[in-house]
Amino acid sequence: MINNEIKKNKVFLMTFGCQMNVRDSEVIAGILGKSGYRITDKEDKADVVILNTCSVRQHAEDKVWSAAGRYSKLKVKPLMGIAGCMAQNYKEKIFERSPGVDFVVGPGDIAKIPEIIKSLTETRIGTVPKERGQSLFLRKIWETDAKNRPDEIYHTGFYEDKDHAYVVISEGCSNFCSYCVVPYVRGGLRHRDHKDVLNEIEDAARKGITRITLLGQNVNAYRDFVGLLTLVNGVKGIKEFSFITSHPKDTSVELFKAMAELEKLKKYLHLPAQSGSDRILKLMNRGYTRKFYLDLADKYRKMVRNAVLTADIIVGFPSETENDFMDTYNLVKEAEFDAAYIFKYSPRPNTEAAKLPDDVEKKEKERRHRLILDLQKEISKNKKR
Ligand code: SAH
Ligand code: SF4
Ligand code: F3S
Repeated sequence: MINNEIKKNKVFLMTFGCQMNVRDSEVIAGILGKSGYRITDKEDKADVVILNTCSVRQHAEDKVWSAAGRYSKLKVKPLMGIAGCMAQNYKEKIFERSPGVDFVVGPGDIAKIPEIIKSLTETRIGTVPKERGQSLFLRKIWETDAKNRPDEIYHTGFYEDKDHAYVVISEGCSNFCSYCVVPYVRGGLRHRDHKDVLNEIEDAARKGITRITLLGQNVNAYRDFVGLLTLVNGVKGIKEFSFITSHPKDTSVELFKAMAELEKLKKYLHLPAQSGSDRILKLMNRGYTRKFYLDLADKYRKMVRNAVLTADIIVGFPSETENDFMDTYNLVKEAEFDAAYIFKYSPRPNTEAAKLPDDVEKKEKERRHRLILDLQKEISKNKKR
């Protein structure tokens, strides 16, 4: 549907969080484009601002609240929407905390965005807000109930890059790692039909895309993951592809075998370890031990030549002692990651870990964070040589 009547049609999209959100922003841009809206990279010229948000740590949310505050105070305030994980986390409570926000759309409801914007712009009060920080629009809309997305939204053909595409293969996560908000804001694991995924990749390849990143919060839990990789490897026009993020408990030697054999598949594995302490791993509900992780990393390096291994680590999980921390420190030393992303534990609403006291002091979290950062820096430097 092309709607030529839309005059207030310039949309600025601001993306926070992970690659899934980067892809979701493309999807939003794609469906808005199909409905007659234009995406602009000039925020001061925008009629509509959409913040596609992340809830994974407190810091990620703080950035969004302050951005929302900034747009609320503009003299001519744009129509403002909150999409993504914070939308799902706080729903209509967002309007209380940030009255300048006009609409809230959860990750399952992004297909409704064009309709919501249209409906709201029809009920505008005037051009200058009565009170600073208030909205110009009479109504608020929130949509956060949908469990599933229609597959069509992935087929608008819009990708930010000319030659690379993110392709979602599964949505949500059912692992419930005790610290993690993702299962609450993204729902349980759903698999996209592999034929739809393949259609999307083939269409993209016909348009000149040569590189693909398959996306899932727990990407290698996809049913017949190796089968899918083999199919993608066979797509004409695709030169290179990879996948992110894998969970150790779903990682097998069959996957390593496929990585070694499929010539287009990048020899790159992001395999979050989170901790090196068995006691903390158990509290995190990760479903593996330190030994399991290190053995897996070892097999990977032996089976896949010139393979790259990266990981995520959390320091300062509730009750983490100096000994627990040293187990993590030594795991990082032993695994010799090519790169590692180190995070300070941040309690998240609804999660199991949030029921435990956040008892590692800020200063101590910072010290542990710094120590592993320095260690990893050294390892990365030596590896490059
Ligand atoms: N699905 C992916 C990404 C999850 S979020 C995965 O399973 O790896 C990305 C990283 O953020 C996680 O790997 C974890 O290291 C970190 N993270 C998640 N929740 C966190 C929290 N509450 N505090 C600190 N770091 C967290
Ligand atoms: Fe969160 Fe764990 Fe799922 Fe990753 S696997 S998204 S850390 S619950
Ligand atoms: Fe953040 Fe949501 Fe991704 S919480 S890490 S944007 S799935």
